[in-house]
Amino acid sequence: MKHLKTKKLSLLITFFTISFTLSAQKDYKLWLQYEPKNNLEITTKYLNSIKGIAMSGNSETLKIALTELNLGLSNMLGNQIPHQTNIEGSNLIIIGNKSSLDASVQETLKSEFEKTNKDGFIIKTISINNKKNIVITGKNDVAVLYGVFSFLRQIQTNKPIENLSIVDSPKIDVRILNHWDNLDRTVERGYAGFSLWNWHKLPDFIDQRYVDYARANASIGINGTVLNNVNANALILTPQYLEKVQALASTFRPYGIKVYLTARFSAPIEIGGLKTADPFDTDVINWWKNKAAEIYAQIPDFGGFVIKANSEGQPGPQNYGRNHVDGANMLADAVAPFGGIVMWRAFVYSEHDADDRAKQAYSEFVPYDGKFKDNVIVQVKNGAIDFQPREPFHPLFGAMPKTNTMMEFQITQEYLGFSTHLVYLPKLYQEVLESDTYRKGSTVAKIIDGSLYNNKITGIAGVANIGNDLNWTGHPFAQANWYGFGRLAWNPYLDSESIADEWLRSTFSNEENFVKPIKEMMIQSREAVVNYMTPLGLHHIMDTGHHYGPGPWVSDLSRPEWNPVYYHKASKDGIGFNRSKTGSNATAQYAPEMAKLFDNPSTCPEKDLLWFHHLSWDYKLKNGHSLWDGIALKYQEGVDQVGSMIATWNKMENFVDPMRFKEIQMLLNIQNKEAKWWRDACLLYFQQFSGKELPSGVEKSTQSLDYFKSLKFPFAPGN
Ligand code: GCU
Repeated sequence: MKHLKTKKLSLLITFFTISFTLSAQKDYKLWLQYEPKNNLEITTKYLNSIKGIAMSGNSETLKIALTELNLGLSNMLGNQIPHQTNIEGSNLIIIGNKSSLDASVQETLKSEFEKTNKDGFIIKTISINNKKNIVITGKNDVAVLYGVFSFLRQIQTNKPIENLSIVDSPKIDVRILNHWDNLDRTVERGYAGFSLWNWHKLPDFIDQRYVDYARANASIGINGTVLNNVNANALILTPQYLEKVQALASTFRPYGIKVYLTARFSAPIEIGGLKTADPFDTDVINWWKNKAAEIYAQIPDFGGFVIKANSEGQPGPQNYGRNHVDGANMLADAVAPFGGIVMWRAFVYSEHDADDRAKQAYSEFVPYDGKFKDNVIVQVKNGAIDFQPREPFHPLFGAMPKTNTMMEFQITQEYLGFSTHLVYLPKLYQEVLESDTYRKGSTVAKIIDGSLYNNKITGIAGVANIGNDLNWTGHPFAQANWYGFGRLAWNPYLDSESIADEWLRSTFSNEENFVKPIKEMMIQSREAVVNYMTPLGLHHIMDTGHHYGPGPWVSDLSRPEWNPVYYHKASKDGIGFNRSKTGSNATAQYAPEMAKLFDNPSTCPEKDLLWFHHLSWDYKLKNGHSLWDGIALKYQEGVDQVGSMIATWNKMENFVDPMRFKEIQMLLNIQNKEAKWWRDACLLYFQQFSGKELPSGVEKSTQSLDYFKSLKFPFAPGN
């Protein structure tokens, strides 16, 4: 009897181990699940168009493309597709770059090739000797790899492949992740475990994760990665570490991914033994030139540097009485002979400047327009403060017509619930990208893709949300933010809803009864977080330091703009930051049409109201509610939205593997708890000033304000 029990138990353990492993593998596989179709009709339809694969060329990149095609097709369709080297036959998938294609095929695709840029791909059904075949090609091998991933996505998402005619080129040159990873493997603002980069074991140990990371990035068109934190450590530039960087660069290269590093401005002193890092000093100039030569000798396709200078205590040219142009151009000269670039960050605000923090980057950078070298690109955060749940677009977009300007989004959710809250960020990205700047009638997207000002380099950066968690991003739905960032980096005009659609189908299921409600849930999740954290233009009222949870009461930090009270300015007379012409006049940094719109509370979009205006608690909103009631109702709406996200998810058990289903369920429950915490803490705090009752429909807190103020999180992650 006892023996039988032990046997049963061990069977049970085996069962759980296997199903855990399978589920964990699903989490790990991101959007490259390649789920079997398990449907004869669908499978037969695809197989009718895929009888063989013909590949020309044998570069590492093409081998990867072929392996991916084999993996995807055999998993999804259950068949190994035969290979051949010639193109005789029908229903072949022909893969190869332009120059490797048969002359007649090149001729057939002439007009498509004219429409593609360097990284663009073509997937086209053409007739060769009266036989139908699919060609996947581009001007180089990486473009072919992009084409293969796109072709597989067609099948992943159940789209037809009978008559394909896809010509797709990236609209932005530098599509890059910024890892805020430290050399000790902690990640600044990282909520998915430790850094992927195991510096100790590099260069000799190449973790399979590096390969899978590269593969995932290539599948969405990301072509660059900055390995280390913007708050940089100069050691990364020492030979000991450059050898490790080289190992990563070699691993990523066949996937079309270049490696970049952050450069600590004071590195010539810290690791070079110089007395100064003055960008005008000849020894300093030479030190950087030699350093660049040393790097390029090991990594010939090294992308270049990212620099955070004279910002939040980081050293920079201003330490020597020089300016951003002096610093950026000196580094740009060092990497220019090798084709490198310098991404100079515009995230600056000074401890000596009493002006509205939101104005400082614009004031500091606009006078330099036209002075940066051609291989410098100024990297601007999407909004003027710091990655809030909602910010109006940064006024620098469109204000520097003679300067390469790139976008910096945050994928990691520093101010948006870490990796515990389900927030679909492409919705936020899209809102920023399609904002009209009124600069020659252009949207932000047209400024960063270079179509308005004809920039020499274009770029878009996303602060990565990736760590060594099994599922890479902490929250399974945070994978969608990495994915969506990549897709928008490729094409900033894509719709976030269709990105959610393809991500859901590739990651979970093609079942309409799953895709439709969950897509709606994702789309709504961004507005939900705005509502329960910072409705109607409120911002930066998170607890300070770690930015976890509400802290609108914080007022004791040494610099005024580090305190939430600086941003909401709640008092008996009202709430909000007056940035209109009667206040800090930050509105004047926008194009005149925009400034006019923002200046007047009645034309200012209500979603940005308290960003630009300080208004009385009785101010009447468009829906007739007083401002106080409106704020309270928005907080409640946010909580209700999370409630409905939970209800939606709870119905999805049949469509999702048990582990991911449960993980997401638990995370949503935490989100719900925290949304209520936000609502209660903020409303109790603001109520002290408004002196008003909560409107009907808004739940009362069961805790006191003092209770919320007493909460401390000394080990909150990401610091
Ligand atoms: C935010 C963030 C910092 C980061 C900084 C930056 O302020 O909290 O951790 O270093 O942005 O973008 O440089």
